[in-house]
Amino acid sequence: MKGFTLSLCTALLLAILASATAALAAIPAEVTLGTARMGEIHFDHKLHQKVGECAVCHHKGVERGGCRDCHGVDTAIPNMKEASHAMCRHCHKRMGAPFGCKDCHVK
Ligand code: HEC
Ligand code: HEC
Ligand code: HEC
Ligand code: HEC
Repeated sequence: MKGFTLSLCTALLLAILASATAALAAIPAEVTLGTARMGEIHFDHKLHQKVGECAVCHHKGVERGGCRDCHGVDTAIPNMKEASHAMCRHCHKRMGAPFGCKDCHVK
């Protein structure tokens, strides 16, 4: 019985460890945003992690998913264009990063 409880504990611990590692591995180094009409946007996630805290962009919490899980899906809230321009362009202007259309949209 003792051995059984012990192996159950080990199994539980391993499961917790596995899910924690899986969550960490999900942070992308680069994300391709954009649409067919406007072209791709190469978003260097790794670089941006140094620019601001996670919550600056993931304003509903990282665990709630990517922007595209809500923006453009829930029609009651600003779509991807509106949300992105408000967030990305605003910060670029504020920090003196490039904010011309072609600095983000690559055809
Ligand atoms: C400058 C803005 C910004 C910052 C800062 C930032 N992220 Fe992100 N993150 C994004 C964008 C944009 C995406 C792509 C969203 C999409 O694909 O819908 C993303 C995607 C992700 C994803 C994948 C989500 C999914 O379900 O596809 C994870 C996980 C994530 N970020 C974690 C983090 C963590 C942890 C930090 C802090 C260490 C962080 N991010 C900082 C903007 C940012
Ligand atoms: C879980 C759903 C969800 C996720 C994920 C999410 N948002 Fe939002 N976002 C909302 C909602 C809902 C609003 C409307 C205002 C509010 O409730 O905060 C909003 C509002 C915004 C606004 C204000 C827009 C305006 O015109 O006032 C910006 C900017 C924004 N989101 C950017 C982002 C970015 C960038 C990401 C990804 C890094 C993201 N959001 C991820 C749900 C989400
Ligand atoms: C918290 C501020 C902040 C936010 C939010 C932010 N950026 Fe940036 N971004 C920067 C800064 C600062 C740089 C310049 C970094 C450097 O060159 O070292 C940059 C650089 C870039 C570059 C490279 C530009 C070039 O030509 O050198 C791209 C592309 C970019 N960001 C896209 C985005 C997109 C798309 C979003 C929204 C999903 C976004 N950024 C949100 C601050 C931000
Ligand atoms: C800092 C980065 C950035 C800059 C600068 C920027 N955009 Fe965007 N734009 C985005 C992001 C991110 C999206 C959302 C893409 C997605 O849905 O995946 C977007 C979406 C759009 C869309 C909607 C896509 C479609 O096919 O309808 C249009 C149109 C657009 N941008 C035009 C412009 C124009 C015009 C400029 C210059 C005045 C500009 N953008 C500057 C990041 C940027």
